[in-house]
Amino acid sequence: MSVNGASRAGRRAAVVAGLRTPFVRSGGDFRSLSAVELGATLVNELVARSGIPPDEYDGVVFGQVVPSPLVSLIAREVVLRTQLPKDVAAHTVSRACATSIQAATDAADQIVLGHGDVFVAGGAESLSDAPIFASRPLAQAIVDASRAKSIVDKARAFARLSARDLAPVPPALKEPTTGLTMGESAEKMAQLNGIAREAQDAFALSSHRRAAAAWAEGKFDGEVMHVPVPPRYERVAAKDNIVREDTSADALAQLRPVFDRRYGTVTAGNSSPLTDGAGAIVLVSEEKAEALGLRPLGYLRSYAYAALDPADQLLMGPAYAAPVALERAGLALADMDLVDMHEAFAAQVLSNLKAFASRKFAEEELGRSAPLGEVDPAKLNVNGGSIALGHPFAATGARMILQTLRELGRRKGAHALLTVCAAGGIGAAVVLDGPDA
Ligand SMILES: CC(C)(COP(=O)(O)OP(=O)(O)OC[C@H]1O[C@@H](n2cnc3c(N)ncnc32)[C@H](O)[C@@H]1OP(=O)(O)O)[C@@H](O)C(=O)NCCC(=O)NCCS
Repeated sequence: MSVNGASRAGRRAAVVAGLRTPFVRSGGDFRSLSAVELGATLVNELVARSGIPPDEYDGVVFGQVVPSPLVSLIAREVVLRTQLPKDVAAHTVSRACATSIQAATDAADQIVLGHGDVFVAGGAESLSDAPIFASRPLAQAIVDASRAKSIVDKARAFARLSARDLAPVPPALKEPTTGLTMGESAEKMAQLNGIAREAQDAFALSSHRRAAAAWAEGKFDGEVMHVPVPPRYERVAAKDNIVREDTSADALAQLRPVFDRRYGTVTAGNSSPLTDGAGAIVLVSEEKAEALGLRPLGYLRSYAYAALDPADQLLMGPAYAAPVALERAGLALADMDLVDMHEAFAAQVLSNLKAFASRKFAEEELGRSAPLGEVDPAKLNVNGGSIALGHPFAATGARMILQTLRELGRRKGAHALLTVCAAGGIGAAVVLDGPDA
């Protein structure tokens, strides 16, 4: 374990291993597993497969976007449920859908600073186990009753309640400041940017075709672990169960819009679905990787986060973050061998791609003289994205880093750009280097 706190110039964070669970539709195979259990199962297996002795690990950075009120520090709880020594420090991060990007960049920063050499970074999400709340009046009545001195006063605390107050309140995927759901925000972006339903469906179809092809070609075999399904543990979840090999342009065109039923274009088919799963990577300093005889999958070269007003176009963050990450990498979009964009909605990816290519957006929004450029569709989300693979919020970033680095390795590519949009108008972008860059 490193004890030298001084920043050491020239250190690079290498990604030497990674793993994810299958991504499973929420309410399905993982419905009785909590995010902590999913995360611990994954991290335990990842540590075993990494070939790095458990006592070499310096820390775990882990996140969950919709946390359980019973687990305030998922990262530490994950450590305590694995073979990692109990003195491995851990902290929990959250940056909405960019949570495991945040975990990875935190770990990389610790490595670059010289605070440690070996980290796990990732996240887990169980939307099957999302907390269900009591309504505000019911919660208040429970508090009042707990303070009441007599049975009569306790009963009186509940007398004010109406039947409606007794209904459980599920968590909403709504922006607290605008009240708009993610889907409504995607719908607004489709309208403002002129993204037609056909274009969204074509993008979704490509996501499914590419993800199905990647599974068929065995590309995911080394990055997706098998998880026995409780409570009987007789069946094993071995594959993502959201990818549809058989979907078609016709089937997608039949689906009704969900968020604006009359005029909308965003459907269940061109949105990412609610998903359970976990994903994580192992980041190691370059010197340590060499000392341990590990060949990196690649390196985290640069990153940037950005934010915009959620009342504007909520999921446009990538268009603001990507130019900064590329500038910090000293590279241009044209230098990228792969581009991987988180697919919250097809409308969101296509809106960001338009902004990447727009001189007007570059000049007016970014204060830059030239646009980032056009993304070659042959380099974009080549093995599918969140629409087809699913989107367990906190696990998606780790899935993207691992999937992209492995593909970069297969292609002997040098660089890749990743982007993620997130709640709160946040955008994240990461530039990755291949193993020989
Ligand atoms: C869009 C959303 C509301 C749909 O939820 P849902 O109605 O439970 O979705 P389902 O999976 O049941 O799909 C609805 C129907 O579309 C069909 N369908 C979905 N994708 C399809 C596809 N690719 N091809 C063909 N049919 C498809 C389903 O089979 C289902 O049909 P059925 O009603 O006959 O069974 C939900 O997935 C959602 O909220 N997604 C957004 C998540 C989000 O906000 N993420 C944040 C992003 S950062």
